[in-house]
Amino acid sequence: PHVGVIVVAAGSGTRLGAGAPKAFVGIDGRTILRHALEGVFAAPSAQVVIVAPESRVGDALTEALDAAGDRRDLVSVVPGGTSRQASVAAGLKALWADIDTVLVHDAARALTPPEVFARVAAAVQGGAAGVVPVLPVIDTIKRVSESVVVGAVDRSELSAAQTPQGFRRDVLDAAYVSAGREFTDDAALVAEAGYSVAAVPGHPLAFKITTAADLERARHLVAPAPV
Ligand code: C5P
Repeated sequence: PHVGVIVVAAGSGTRLGAGAPKAFVGIDGRTILRHALEGVFAAPSAQVVIVAPESRVGDALTEALDAAGDRRDLVSVVPGGTSRQASVAAGLKALWADIDTVLVHDAARALTPPEVFARVAAAVQGGAAGVVPVLPVIDTIKRVSESVVVGAVDRSELSAAQTPQGFRRDVLDAAYVSAGREFTDDAALVAEAGYSVAAVPGHPLAFKITTAADLERARHLVAPAPV
């Protein structure tokens, strides 16, 4: 199998409010993108495509070459689009012809352990058209309309979707060609195109850094333990 990983890092980071594109905000001495790439390069792959803001393509390449070590030949960097979906589409166009399995990963899930990449790739190689890592929903969920609780939702039926999400390359290419609107993740886009998507266990460390509180949590997690 030839696994290509698309790392989408072209978001603006408006909700983080750190004054820079999110992937380039520091967690410790290293950026969100750099931490994400450490996880990516710790798992086997044949190509890694980083999708960066147009103005940060050079910075992303520097980070990627640093993180790649002796696997620099695998690295490509391309500019992203105005939505996550457009950024993934840009990454797909940069995949080499021999890539048959694609993992799409949010750079914002910077602390995702390598085992999640391995689990998702193995499920695609085991025959799944699409694979999404999930965690059980912990909170009790309410349906609320105009400040009134209008119903309960059985949380045992719900799972929170993470990345990396994995796909057969032909499936993801076809689903992106047929997508007629924006979806919130690739699994939804692929399901809408008629393919079945399998779920595998996600990981608590694969949480998405979205708000300042998330960044604070990431900083605590990577801080050296007190002696
Ligand atoms: O905004 P959010 O955190 O949900 O974005 C998820 C991922 O998609 C992030 O890693 C972000 O950099 C990426 N993204 C992108 N291009 C966009 C918007 C988001 O690559 N236009």
